[in-house]
Amino acid sequence: MIQLETAVIRRHLPMGADYRLLEMETPRISDAVRPGQFIHLLVPQSAGLTLRRPFSVFRSESGRLSVLYKLVGVGTAAMQALREGDSVSLMGPLGNGFPAAAAGAFPVLVAGGYGVAPLYFLAQRLASKGRLFVGAATSADLLCLDDFRELGWPVTIATQDGSVGVAGLVTAALDAWLAAEGKGRSLEFFACGPNGMLKAVGGRAIDRGDKGWLSLDRHMGCGAGACLACVQKVRKSGAETWARVCKDGPIFEARDVVWDEPGLGENKP
Ligand SMILES: Cc1cc2nc3c(=O)[nH]c(=O)nc-3n(C[C@H](O)[C@H](O)[C@H](O)COP(=O)(O)OP(=O)(O)OC[C@H]3O[C@@H](n4cnc5c(N)ncnc54)[C@H](O)[C@@H]3O)c2cc1C
Ligand code: FES
Repeated sequence: MIQLETAVIRRHLPMGADYRLLEMETPRISDAVRPGQFIHLLVPQSAGLTLRRPFSVFRSESGRLSVLYKLVGVGTAAMQALREGDSVSLMGPLGNGFPAAAAGAFPVLVAGGYGVAPLYFLAQRLASKGRLFVGAATSADLLCLDDFRELGWPVTIATQDGSVGVAGLVTAALDAWLAAEGKGRSLEFFACGPNGMLKAVGGRAIDRGDKGWLSLDRHMGCGAGACLACVQKVRKSGAETWARVCKDGPIFEARDVVWDEPGLGENKP
């Protein structure tokens, strides 16, 4: 059930120059949330900001929930000013979340930038270990990789400037691994990141006959299915239709996503 809860800030840590970790006490939402779901956050004291902002849940334990956010605009700037003891308004848990992993399939997680956030929560809850592929523009955009390693997950890194790991796109690193270790195996892909990356990972899953679960990122209004600000073209029962990313998603199976809107699926991971 969707809850509206006043959450008290318990920790707010810088993660390099552009990212922050915000930990909040929010017992009702924290108890209910599943990997891939998100919260809709409002900073009440920020004048002029009426719309909530959506963030994937990064961690949830003992009544506390954390998000990992990138400073990009006015809403995240207002969040940056939050101090321990301040309150925010949260709506959640929202969205469908990742489905239960198929028995016997090896989980392959593919993240771009802050896309590691929902995938870390997923890795924590999956019954079996898999492998993480993470792509970023530069080393400053690589987040929480030690958290995955502590869970016992091997991590393959790709940076576009070559500052860490493989130089280039994460899909190139993924392809190299698929060629070396993916043949004849049943894999299940879980991805969160830019559209170009999601489209590419989904294509790999479809070509191999594996499932590919993609977490879509759209600008949102209400977050609860009412305003249609977040629609995405999808296939349902053989016909094309529209889905609301906030309510019907944000997780969609690769075969169901129609990437033909202008600009969609073009930006690089
Ligand atoms: C389901 C979901 C989960 C998300 N999880 C996270 C997360 O874990 N961590 C995180 O840092 N961000 C996440 N986002 C994106 C986050 O919601 C936006 O970055 C945030 O709303 C921007 O708010 P702002 O007021 O600071 O930016 P604005 O001032 O509104 O915009 C600044 C710039 O960011 C762009 N922008 C705004 N919203 C989005 C968006 N949804 N996607 C892409 N670009 C956007 C704008 O076009 C503009 O260029 C998620 C979005 C969705 C839909
Ligand atoms: S944000 Fe309003 S319907 Fe999705």
